[in-house]
Formats: sequence, structure tokens, C-alpha cells
Amino acid sequence: MLFNKKLKLLIVSIVFAFSNVFSDSLVDGSVEAGKSISITCGACHGLDGNSINPLWPNLAGQHALYSVEQLKAFRDGKRVNELMTAMVINLTDQNIKDLSVYYESLPITPKLVADENTVELGEKIYRGGNRETGVAACIACHGPAGKGNPGAKYPLIHSMGAMYTEKQLHDYANGDRVSVGPVQIMRDISKKLSAEEIKAVSSYIQGLQ
Ligand code: HEC
Ligand code: HEC
Repeated sequence: MLFNKKLKLLIVSIVFAFSNVFSDSLVDGSVEAGKSISITCGACHGLDGNSINPLWPNLAGQHALYSVEQLKAFRDGKRVNELMTAMVINLTDQNIKDLSVYYESLPITPKLVADENTVELGEKIYRGGNRETGVAACIACHGPAGKGNPGAKYPLIHSMGAMYTEKQLHDYANGDRVSVGPVQIMRDISKKLSAEEIKAVSSYIQGLQ
């Protein structure tokens, strides 16, 4: 009897270990645990991780490795935002991993470009950069569809509200947002973009799929 119970436990824990190994995420977290503590986040980021306010980012589909870094940056005061700081101050490292893995597992709702009239300029910057001013093409790191690169921690950026992306690029340019890694790639790129280019590329990214 007792032996059977132990065997059952062993099988359950082996199955559990394997389900973790085979989950798609590069972060060791629990979707279930993340979901259970995500209720407050939904007020701003949408109950399914797709935000309805264009100034607030989607979390759905975002690479967990990137989200873990950003949440820690908010918690440790490296990335500053009044709304977010209050939300993460009491989170443990495990809470952060669970939330990131949960949001990564949710599907993204595609969007259209914000402004049809600037598609040409937006696409030019995204795919080719600007040789004259030395702006690197976004596609090189964020990919043809804006999906980023989970291992390299290049975030997924497609379907983000254009107003959010625009704010981030200005924040990078004027130093209000500091990249988590030691290399300030986004600051150097954003500084070289004109306000018009930032607006156009942000609109274009919203419609990328
Ligand atoms: C009161 C609104 C609000 C709530 C509630 C909130 N957030 Fe946020 N969150 C924001 C805003 C605004 C930003 C963008 C800040 C900026 O402009 O840099 C953000 C940014 C983020 C980012 C960075 C996204 C990116 O692409 O870089 C993550 C990750 C995040 N929030 C996770 C969470 C989690 C997890 C919770 C719940 C524990 C939560 N947020 C609760 C408003 C909120
Ligand atoms: C060399 C690689 C590289 C290139 C080229 C690049 N990016 Fe990034 N991008 C990154 C990295 C790395 C981050 C995360 C930095 C951090 O920690 O804040 C990032 C972050 C971002 C973010 C913030 C995403 C979020 O969810 O908050 C936006 C928006 C963005 N990039 C847009 C662009 C645009 C637009 C271009 C082209 C003009 C571009 N990037 C070119 C590497 C790159």
C-alpha cells in the first residue's frame, strides 16, 4: 500500500519534471502559478495579456527571458515607471519567472498600422535603417515579423500599441529608459532617429505580423 503511494508520487514527479523540460520557455517558471497572481496585472495589460490602452504594452507572447529582466529592472529601480514600480516591489524572483512564463504562453491579438500615410517611411526604417544618419535596420535584431529573438533577449515588438513604442524610443533617446544589458544598443539607435521617423516606425511595428 505504502509502496504504491510512493511509486505514484515518483511517477507524478517524473512526469512533472519532464513537462517542465519540454515546455517551450527558456525560463523555469509555472504557467499556472503565474496565472494565479496575474489578476492585478490584467487591469492595465489586458486580461489576456493584450493591452487595450495604446500607451501600455502587451505582455502576450513576450519572451519570458526578456520579461524576467525587465520586471527585475523595475523592481530594482533600474527601469523607472510610476505605474509599474508599485506593481513589482513585492514580487519574489520566482513570482517574476512564473508571471513571465504565463504571459509568454498567451496568444497575441494582431493589430493594423496606426497611420496608413507613414507606412513607406516606417517600412524603410524597419527594413533598411537610415544609412545617412547611421541608423541600424530594426529587422536585424527584431526579425522580419517583429518577433525578436528569445535567446538573445531581443524583445518581440510587433502588435505593440504605436504610442507605447514611440514613448520607449524617446525614453531610450533621452536616457529615461536604460537597457538592462551593458550595451546601450537602443539608446544609440534611438538618438539617431528623427521624431518623424520614430512616429512612422512605431506605427509600422503596430501592424507587423
Ligand atoms: C496601473 C497599470 C499597470 C499595472 C497594474 C501593471 N502594469 Fe506593467 N506596465 C505598465 C506600464 C505603463 C508599462 C510601460 C512603462 C514604460 O513606459 O516604460 C508597463 C510595463 C510592463 C512590462 C515591460 C514590457 C516591455 O515590453 O518592456 C512588463 C513585463 C510588465 N509591465 C508586467 C506587469 C506585471 C507582471 C504586472 C502585474 C504584477 C503589471 N505589469 C501590472 C502598467 C501597469
Ligand atoms: C542590434 C540589435 C538591435 C537593433 C538593430 C534594434 N534593436 Fe530594438 N532592442 C534591442 C534590445 C537588446 C532591446 C532590449 C533593450 C533593453 O533592455 O531595454 C530592444 C528593445 C526595443 C524596444 C522596446 C520593446 C519593449 O517591449 O519595450 C523597442 C520598441 C525597439 N527595440 C525598437 C527598435 C527599432 C524601432 C529599431 C530600428 C530603428 C530597433 N529596435 C533596432 C536590440 C535591437
